[in-house]
Amino acid sequence: MLGTRFLVRVHEAETKPTADEIAEAASGCAGVLPLVRDIIDAALMDRLPGLLAIANYGAGYDNIDVEAATARHILVTNTPDVLTDATADLTFALLLAVARRLREGEAMVRAGEFHGWSPAMLVGADLAGATLGLVGFGRIAAAVGRRARGFGMRLIHTARHDHAEAEALGSRRVDLDELLTSSDFVSLHLPLSDETRHLINAEALRKMKPTARLINTARGPIVDEAALAEALATGVIAGAGLDVYEREPEVDGGLMTLKNVVLLPHLGSASVMAREGMSQLAAANMIAALSGERPPNLLNPGAMRD
Ligand code: 8YV
Repeated sequence: MLGTRFLVRVHEAETKPTADEIAEAASGCAGVLPLVRDIIDAALMDRLPGLLAIANYGAGYDNIDVEAATARHILVTNTPDVLTDATADLTFALLLAVARRLREGEAMVRAGEFHGWSPAMLVGADLAGATLGLVGFGRIAAAVGRRARGFGMRLIHTARHDHAEAEALGSRRVDLDELLTSSDFVSLHLPLSDETRHLINAEALRKMKPTARLINTARGPIVDEAALAEALATGVIAGAGLDVYEREPEVDGGLMTLKNVVLLPHLGSASVMAREGMSQLAAANMIAALSGERPPNLLNPGAMRD
């Protein structure tokens, strides 16, 4: 889609590029299409004069300073919706894996330690009748809620305002304290911002039930990872399923050796449909932005010139 219209330069790299690498790779470009790991801040924007559009490959856009972009008339777009089901599926995969101790079971079989069925072996938590607390109620949380209803779970959620879909799912809006104290599973569905950074810290973890499990498929820094490792090691909570990390791709050493945590490498949107949708949407956003049209997923209308 992009190659037929523009001269496209692809920066191939397995690891997170530095600001210097991005500045060099994108030098002279009118548009940049970053991944979640690529930090596009004000200083970098100033090193890219002539930049008109940033079409993020992802729904979350905490890697981009949108305010700085707006001030410089740079359009910023993201790729929502196309990854909602894929991310909700992965959230549920983590929830089930943690509840039913799949990691331990898998390791047992591979180690040749499965010597036969026994009634008390790897007994896990039930989903039916358990309470799932959704922190935030955006599109992905709603999709997780729909899945949870199919498993017979009760739902509560936090949100700034009422949502018709939450009501339709029978989910009760509560404050974070009530959600933490009464949920059997807590799943995070908030964007990363100054407000949400370390929302789940040692104090918040202590409010959770000792039998509760935490699932994070949103952004790593919403959780104080060292505090979580400590809480999991000392029985403050029972388990966790993580797809994202505070200092991605680094993972807190304390988590690595624990049995009651399932660790995935940011796979939320890693499905065929989601990735195709994200690619097409990011390209469509870029084409519109560089053609002087309003992109379908414009995040900062204030950046458009009259
Ligand atoms: C992507 C994501 O893997 O959309 C998001 O917010 O975190 C994931 O879907 C990531 O953005 C890739 O750049």
